[in-house]
Amino acid sequence: MIYMIGEEIERKEIEELRERLNMVKLGGGQEAIDRQHAAGKLTARERLEILFDNGIYTELDMFVTHRATEFGMNAKKAYGDGVVTAFGKINNRSVVAIAQDFTFMGGSVGEMHAAKIVKALGYAMSVGVPVVFLNDSGGARIQEGVDSLKGYGDIFYLNVMASGSIPQIAVIMGPCAGGAVYSPALMDFVIMVNKISYMFITGPKVVRAAIGEEVTEMELGGPEIHAAKSGVAHFVADDEREAINIVKKLLSYLPSNSLELPPRVQTGDDPQRTAQLLNSIVPEDASKPYDMRTVIENIVDRKTFFEVQKDFAKNAIIGFARLHGYTIGVVANQPLYYMGALDIDSSDKIAKFVRFCNAFNIPIVTLVDVPGFVPGTLQEYRGIIRHGAKILYAYAEAVVPKLTVIVRKAYGGAYIAMGSRHLGADFVIAWPTAEVAVMGPEAAAEIIWRREIQAVNDESERKIMLQKLAAEYREKLTTPYYAASRGYIDAIVEPSETRPILAKALEFLITKREIRIRPPPKKHGLIPL
Ligand code: HXC
Repeated sequence: MIYMIGEEIERKEIEELRERLNMVKLGGGQEAIDRQHAAGKLTARERLEILFDNGIYTELDMFVTHRATEFGMNAKKAYGDGVVTAFGKINNRSVVAIAQDFTFMGGSVGEMHAAKIVKALGYAMSVGVPVVFLNDSGGARIQEGVDSLKGYGDIFYLNVMASGSIPQIAVIMGPCAGGAVYSPALMDFVIMVNKISYMFITGPKVVRAAIGEEVTEMELGGPEIHAAKSGVAHFVADDEREAINIVKKLLSYLPSNSLELPPRVQTGDDPQRTAQLLNSIVPEDASKPYDMRTVIENIVDRKTFFEVQKDFAKNAIIGFARLHGYTIGVVANQPLYYMGALDIDSSDKIAKFVRFCNAFNIPIVTLVDVPGFVPGTLQEYRGIIRHGAKILYAYAEAVVPKLTVIVRKAYGGAYIAMGSRHLGADFVIAWPTAEVAVMGPEAAAEIIWRREIQAVNDESERKIMLQKLAAEYREKLTTPYYAASRGYIDAIVEPSETRPILAKALEFLITKREIRIRPPPKKHGLIPL
């Protein structure tokens, strides 16, 4: 009899647990879930099911509720407090995920909601695994006042503490406005989803009231804007599933934390494979462009190039790839835009990527064809000096293997900036088409032989003279053999042989440990910002 009562009690408790778990799953309720679906969006848990292997994940803090009392908050309570935090596996590697649940109070961030995020970030840091944050939120929970702001502050603090220690990926799957944008901004990569996501500091209504500008949410901070103009977004996906596929692909190139090496993958592409096409890719005429992406794709393991920020600052290319199965970070000038010259945006883009690669033990392969920094008041007034310096800083600071290929032009300060020997490159090769100099041969000849050229009265004769002198300068000083004679270039190779020689050098350098110069102890350097 006693036994029977015990059994009944046990059944009642389990029944209650089941009921509560059902409530957990309902988040803000069935009506809100229906509204979320009608808006073309998945719920937080549906997203996590796509993210994690076989849809399996372990939820943390599922019974957390807020403790606010003002403004009718007693009546508004839901298990989880509008955010799901969990751990699980992605491609068999552990990851922590945070998914805001828009169905409860618009995924707004209150004290306990924030505490859950902070705890999840702390777990990811202490275990040493990446964190994926699926954002879908109306921002600071208005009813919780400063407690909500405190929560945001705590999240930002943890984002900063985690920076460079574990990879942090933000996916924007709904609104992300006001100070809320700063958590994604402090993370390493931002992925936005077409049609359903936007990010801005102040929304259209405030913009209209403050400065009278009429602008829609999408015009102000939609995916296209952040991918092409502001550079805030690194990837844009057509829908949520594609966004999650991007997360998975990105993670496949990265180590779980800064103390590990990225996973090596057998790509089946022979490291000794040559690429004949590269022997003819650089046009005879130095003023004609070509697509550097073709060069990259012919050097790295087949179909492994994964471009980052492809629509922003198109005069520079950055992205992950594999070479001989090792993850590499590729940085290149793109002669199709501004002849590959560096400007403010491309400097920021390159510098941030180089620093990410360095933090996560990813060797950097740099392909150079750069005529210099973009001239003019627009760039100077906005601070090309400050921004360009970031590239120099990032390369000089990077201790990962650095391999550089000078494809064509490598002029002036931009030559030094683009992974030169002088900033600590470990292995530098040049194609026979390389031109390494203070400036282009024509400009150089005009300065060196200014008087002699001016003394010639006939214009066509002057032109012929200039060409001859420029050719002399090119032959004597800009040839890669001159730089190689000084030891600034290790080898001059046929373009088709680039892949085999880089693969060998990378294999040799992969265990690199030494820093060229060890600075005296300091808290941190002061990268120009
Ligand atoms: C409390 C919020 C909320 C918020 C939305 N909700 N945002 N509750 N605090 N910040 C609630 C709504 O009241 C509604 O509740 C439910 O979430 C769904 O919202 P809807 O408005 O019905 O959804 P939608 O039409 O899709 O519009 C979404 C939205 C809009 C554009 C995000 O809700 C909105 O403008 N919210 C306010 C945004 C805002 O001003 N946030 C503060 C920004 S300042 P019910 O009960 O009706 O279903 C900020 C500072 C951060 O974030 C500072 C960090 C340092």
